[in-house]
Amino acid sequence: MDKQKKINRYKRLYLQLEDLLKKSNDETAHMATVSAVLYHKMEYFFWCGFYRIVNGDLVVGAYQGSVACQVLAKNKGVCWAGINQGKTIIVPDVHQFPDHIACDSRSKSEIVVPYKDKVGKITAVLDIDSSEFNSFDEVDAEYLEKIIALV
Ligand code: SME
Repeated sequence: MDKQKKINRYKRLYLQLEDLLKKSNDETAHMATVSAVLYHKMEYFFWCGFYRIVNGDLVVGAYQGSVACQVLAKNKGVCWAGINQGKTIIVPDVHQFPDHIACDSRSKSEIVVPYKDKVGKITAVLDIDSSEFNSFDEVDAEYLEKIIALV
């Protein structure tokens, strides 16, 4: 997607989500709403959802897209890298990422954004996959970080 078109789209989605998420204070409802809005409004999002830390494991939460792995192998793959490094991870080609966990072989690029709870602890990640290489850049990182702060 063209850079300016992407920025404009994210700005609209941010405002839409800001409004939608006022309707409850429930984290699960917020994560489900963010997944649904992003998946349906960003055409290059092939899979979009959350993995949550549950008793030390990364367990899938609200998502949209093809059936995902329910639990991710400990300290492997992009989601765990986002948690362990405490920062957004952009992977232009998943085949080049050591230990990448392929829940769907059509996935080619990926972005993972850590989610922090009210006291600033990372408790989940937003994970988005694309069926094209090089789909994600600093614009996705900036706006997805802003959007996840609404949850
Ligand atoms: N690729 C992720 C696993 C989750 S799926 O993309 C839905 C990873 O390497 O952590």
